[in-house]
Amino acid sequence: MKKIILFADTGIDDTIALIYALKNPEIDLIGVVSGYGNINREKTYRNVEYLLELADRTDIPVIAGSTRPLSGEDPVFFPEIHGIEGLGPIDPPIPEERYANRTNFSKLFKLIKENHNEVTIINVGRCTSLAMAHYLSPEVMEDVKETYIMGGAFLVPGNATEVAEANFFGDPIAANYVCKNVVNLTIVPLNVTREALLTPSDVNVIGDHSDSPLEEIIKPILDYYYEVYQQLEPGISGTPQHDLAALMAALDISGLYEYSKREVRVQHEGNFAYGESIADFRPGSSDCFGPKCPRIALRINQDVFVSNVLRILTN
Ligand code: BDR
Ligand code: CA
Repeated sequence: MKKIILFADTGIDDTIALIYALKNPEIDLIGVVSGYGNINREKTYRNVEYLLELADRTDIPVIAGSTRPLSGEDPVFFPEIHGIEGLGPIDPPIPEERYANRTNFSKLFKLIKENHNEVTIINVGRCTSLAMAHYLSPEVMEDVKETYIMGGAFLVPGNATEVAEANFFGDPIAANYVCKNVVNLTIVPLNVTREALLTPSDVNVIGDHSDSPLEEIIKPILDYYYEVYQQLEPGISGTPQHDLAALMAALDISGLYEYSKREVRVQHEGNFAYGESIADFRPGSSDCFGPKCPRIALRINQDVFVSNVLRILTN
């Protein structure tokens, strides 16, 4: 069983990743760090508390993460994609104000120390909290076994801008810090996660098997997400499960991904390429070496992805 701490900005695809983590018997979810991103930190924190209540898993600690990028600029939120509250059509019956002013990295460090060398971090939001944890306490973060992040876009358009993916665009200073400094890092970028699609018929199958309060929210939020994507990319056959795809990279799922190892830089100066992730994939370029050399997912096998997701979410 993998001990996982999920760093999330709990919007729609983060929620699906969280539900999958709670349902997969190979995962022991030992904590959630909730930061700003798709929506503000108070709402993401509230959403995690709400989802854990639905799952009857309030034993899992929730840690308040960052509220703004390291640049000090105001964050940009995406209610038009994830809904005002971050959960599509769902309005959780807990006021977000309850969760103001709770940033607490010492709780995270304690959790990592208690699970020395056993923790896998999955970061599916802005990199701010993760970069800050490494900056504040590199000696504790050395106890982390491995880290996976959803972010960046290589060789293809971004989604936040022509060249930048939203998680890296949201805090490129932190993303660059993480890509340069975190050992045993795997990056699952947008050009790969956008192929991790769940179609409406996949969602209907999941809906037909939903028989708990937590499972019953999957279909309404994914139906909502599908409508949003039909506006963004008319004709797209399903919804991209960016965050779930990154989480699944940490599991031993045969044939799911192909990888390559390359140094990554993230453009964090205020020009038109702000937030762009750059790795050298020119013909003739070769893999980098060493613990600080990140592994980048290049391709995902869609059939393997869908069959695994349906197996876990219909159980
Ligand atoms: C990423 O940005 C967020 O909107 C999603 O939750 C995902 O983590 C996709 O670019
Ligand atoms: Ca996310």
